[in-house]
Amino acid sequence: MQASRPFRTAIVPAAGLGTRFLPTTKTVPKELLPVIDTPGIEMVAAEAAEAGASRLLIVTSPGKDAVAAHFAPQPELEATLAARGKDALAAKVRRAAELIEAGTVTQDEPKGLGHAVGCAGDALGPDEDAVAVLLPDDIVLAAPGEPSVLSRMAAVRERLGGSVLCAFDVPREQISAYGVFDVDDTVDSGDPDVKRIRGMVEKPPADQAPSTLATAGRYLLDRQIFDALKRISPGSGGELQLTDAVALLIAEGHPVHVVVHRGGRHDLGNPGSYLRAFVDFALAHPDYGPALREWLTDRLTFPDEPVRGA
Ligand code: G1P
Repeated sequence: MQASRPFRTAIVPAAGLGTRFLPTTKTVPKELLPVIDTPGIEMVAAEAAEAGASRLLIVTSPGKDAVAAHFAPQPELEATLAARGKDALAAKVRRAAELIEAGTVTQDEPKGLGHAVGCAGDALGPDEDAVAVLLPDDIVLAAPGEPSVLSRMAAVRERLGGSVLCAFDVPREQISAYGVFDVDDTVDSGDPDVKRIRGMVEKPPADQAPSTLATAGRYLLDRQIFDALKRISPGSGGELQLTDAVALLIAEGHPVHVVVHRGGRHDLGNPGSYLRAFVDFALAHPDYGPALREWLTDRLTFPDEPVRGA
C-alpha cells in the first residue's frame, strides 16, 4: 500500500483520563497499557504506518507526556541491550520510533471526540487533503493474509473519493454504545462490503438505530471535516461528536462510504474487554500461547483447586 498514499497523518485521540483503569491511570496513560508486552498505541501506530501514514499526531492532555515519549528513541537503553547481546530486545525498543514520526497536539479541555480531532486540524500541512483517525481503544484485526481495514479504506477513497469509515455489524442490543450508519442500499459501489452512507447518528436508542452497522474507531476523513467540526453543536453526552460532523458533511452532499469489516476486533477501553484482548493475543503467541492454553484448560476444568501459578 506504500505506493499509493492518500493520507500521511494519522490522528490518535489520547487525551482521556482513563478512569476505567484507575488506579493504574493515576500515572500510566491508558494508551500505554500492554497487550502482552506492547502498548496498544504502538499496535495502532503500526496499523497506521502499514496503511501509508508517516506521521502520528497524538491528541494528548496535560500530564500525559509519556504517550509521545514512547515514540522517542532511547539510544542508551538500546546500547545497553546491544552490549549485553540482547539484539531482539533492542529491536523492540527501536520499533516505535522506526515505525512512524510522532508529534502531539494538546486538548486542554475534555469536550468530546469531535473536539479532540478538531484540535489537530492546524497541524496538517497545506497539501494534506485527507487524514486518518484511529481510536486507540479499538484494535481492528485484519483477516489472515488480508491488508488492514485502514488500507482497504485508503483504496476506497482513491476509487470513490470523499470520506471512508470502518463499519462493524454489532448485535442490536449493543448498538447504543456506537456511532451508527444509515446505509444507502440503492447505490452499487461495485463491492458488497463497500456501502454508501446517507446518514450517521451517535449512540441512538436501540429501537431508533438506522442499522446495526456501527463505526469502530477507524476513519479516513476528507480535510473538510475540520470545517464541519467548527460548525457542530454539542450532541450525545453534551460533547462535540465526530459522528455529528460526518453527518453534517453527508447532509451537505459530501460522499461517505464504509468498508464493512468482517474480521475481528478488540476493545482495550475497559478492563473486561481488555482482558479478552490480552488473553486472545497471549493464546496466539508462540512463546506464551501453548502453556497458557494448558493452564487455562486446567483452571476451567478444576476451578476449585488452588491456583498454580507456574
Ligand atoms: C466513540 C465514537 C463512536 C464509536 C466508538 C467505537 O465512542 O464516538 O461513534 O462507535 O468510539 O469506536 P466512545 O466509545 O468513545 O464512547
